[in-house]
Amino acid sequence: MDLRVLADHLARTAGELIRSGRPERVEVAATKSSAVDVVTRMDRESEAFLRRELAAERPDDAILGEEEGASDGTSGITWVLDPIDGTVNYLYGVASYAVSVAAVLGPVDPARWTVVAGAVHSVVDDRTWTAGLGAGSTVDGVPVRVEQAPRLDECLVGTGFGYDAQRRRTQAQVLVEVLPRVRDIRRLGSAAIDLCLVASGEIDLYYERGLNPWDLAAGALVAQEAGATVTGLRGRPAGQAMTVAGPRGVTGELVALLEELDADQG
Ligand code: IPD
Repeated sequence: MDLRVLADHLARTAGELIRSGRPERVEVAATKSSAVDVVTRMDRESEAFLRRELAAERPDDAILGEEEGASDGTSGITWVLDPIDGTVNYLYGVASYAVSVAAVLGPVDPARWTVVAGAVHSVVDDRTWTAGLGAGSTVDGVPVRVEQAPRLDECLVGTGFGYDAQRRRTQAQVLVEVLPRVRDIRRLGSAAIDLCLVASGEIDLYYERGLNPWDLAAGALVAQEAGATVTGLRGRPAGQAMTVAGPRGVTGELVALLEELDADQG
């Protein structure tokens, strides 16, 4: 099966598992003490499902998953899996969480990898973005293209925060400077969906420090193949230090501001 078609199939099918496995009502107060358990159980089930499907369909490929880590292969392809991106939203029932599946050629390092295919399935609104390297991006089969954006001060900008408290302090300081210079900020809670919304023009720009390969791989390809610039700061590629995505000109404006703020430090 074509890698993009397989990524699409896997992301949608794991999405169905997640949808049907989440109780109608999760009592958040009752769940808080065991929040990690609840989320981890469904994360694990989703990743185990993806791994079983891949073992049957592509037994020679390697896998890197958020829950189970790395397993080796011989084909040169690694599947990079985020079984639930947006786990806090999943816990609370906020409607923005996704399954992210990408096929990567070469090292699984955002600075050196080639992502050849990816799919992001947004579970609650049942939409799936897919992309193939050099073959464009679609949402539910309909091509998406990034439009030229207005000036930075007219842009709706998505961002996110990692879980580390110290890093959150510096991210908050960066936000203090970015917020007055843009139309508004959205913290939607799933990096994979944020990148796809850039591809669809539903937000203008996105930036985040601290992304893991599984948060980034599929969504970055979707954004890039839709015509977005996806980059880091100071001429570096997008990755853990910083990821910025959006239409070319205005992405340069945001990159310049983030460089001035040393947003990839601390
Ligand atoms: C998180 C989400 C969130 C982003 C965090 C990620 P997870 O992934 O993508 O939007 O801000 O940096 O870690 O933990 O829900 O898979």
